[in-house]
Amino acid sequence: MDQIRFGIVGAVGRGNSYVRALSAHPATAITALCDIRLEAAQQSAGEIGVDHVFADVEEMLVAGVVDAVVIGTPMQFHAPQAIAALERDIHVLCEVTAGISVEECRDLVRAARRSAAQYMMAENYAYMKNNVLVRALVERGLFGEVYYGEGAYIHELKALNEQTPWRRRWQTGVNGPTYPTHSLGPVLQWFAGQRVTAACAVGTGHHYRDPRGDAYEMEDSVTMMCRMSGGGLVQIRVDMLSERPHHMTHYALQGTEGCYESGDGFRGEARIWLRERSDQHVWEPLSNLEEFLPDYWKNPPDEALKAGHGGGDWWEVQDFVDAIRQEHPAPIGIDAAMDMTLPGLVSQASIAQGGTWVAVPDPRNWT
Ligand SMILES: NC(=O)c1ccc[n+]([C@@H]2O[C@H](COP(=O)([O-])OP(=O)(O)OC[C@H]3O[C@@H](n4cnc5c(N)ncnc54)[C@H](O)[C@@H]3O)[C@@H](O)[C@H]2O)c1
Repeated sequence: MDQIRFGIVGAVGRGNSYVRALSAHPATAITALCDIRLEAAQQSAGEIGVDHVFADVEEMLVAGVVDAVVIGTPMQFHAPQAIAALERDIHVLCEVTAGISVEECRDLVRAARRSAAQYMMAENYAYMKNNVLVRALVERGLFGEVYYGEGAYIHELKALNEQTPWRRRWQTGVNGPTYPTHSLGPVLQWFAGQRVTAACAVGTGHHYRDPRGDAYEMEDSVTMMCRMSGGGLVQIRVDMLSERPHHMTHYALQGTEGCYESGDGFRGEARIWLRERSDQHVWEPLSNLEEFLPDYWKNPPDEALKAGHGGGDWWEVQDFVDAIRQEHPAPIGIDAAMDMTLPGLVSQASIAQGGTWVAVPDPRNWT
């Protein structure tokens, strides 16, 4: 197969962070950039040697210059732009979240099912080393039956809301866990074969105002409880407003045979206890178990570690390319993308109703 021709949409923002992985991959070539900031996109294209530059995604899709697109535009454009590409059988690697409403998620699922092209959601935190290792240990049965998980995205973004006003509208401008996939995504992979069947959300109230003096619609810290199809429970916290240093991630997992607590912040050591390794209830560093990492993570190339988000930005591109080449299905294909996105969307109704449980639709039933 010739090289897969990639277009990057939102090329001047987040899209730019895909350049490293796509440029290094022998099977891919970046042939087009698209951004409404045309001049900046043109400059970037000049720097990396890309011939085609567009301000309009539709123009790029009909120009016959791309086989696949990376969508790195603001959240409200993800589903419409992905649908436009899929309708033309152009493969899609799309940033999180998959969509901003249940209705447009339905449309996206329909488009993905009808398309000959691949859809994958770029949930890069699912590829971070510790998350991959915990998944490998779960798959070996070392946690026994998993029944409780936690994930948190605690990232104070008030200043960034002003620089990227779409965040003020679609992340902090809606009450509920509007950006939950970095937390829920890895935890769902640990509950393999399960999905969230119902969700409820509650918040802490409002303690901050934006520079115009308006209260954020999103409560400062929002917690979503997820009932899993196997009966277990997952707790997700999304906090983009509270004044505090950047924490980025927090995860925990409990099974009948073991448990895991991610390190706090950037430097804390991740800890694990597995009954098989110790009868005593004594933590050991997760790093002691790196022999269980999948091969691809054992000796990562330098580019992978430099690509961003602890290698996540690299590995997701490798997997997407493999899916296009039909070496394996996209690991975060349309159903998994929905499983990571829909609980956050339906729990916006929950928080509005005072925290009632709301059923999460199963996208596998959507035709
Ligand atoms: N996975 C991650 O770790 C991660 C990290 C950062 C951002 N993101 C996601 O990436 C997306 C973009 O975030 P960002 O911080 O780069 O935002 P941004 O606003 O800085 O960048 C978005 C880019 O898209 C361009 N754009 C806007 N509308 C467009 C359109 N209709 N067509 C083409 N280009 C358009 C903008 O000009 C801008 O260059 C968001 O969905 C965000 O959630 C994910």
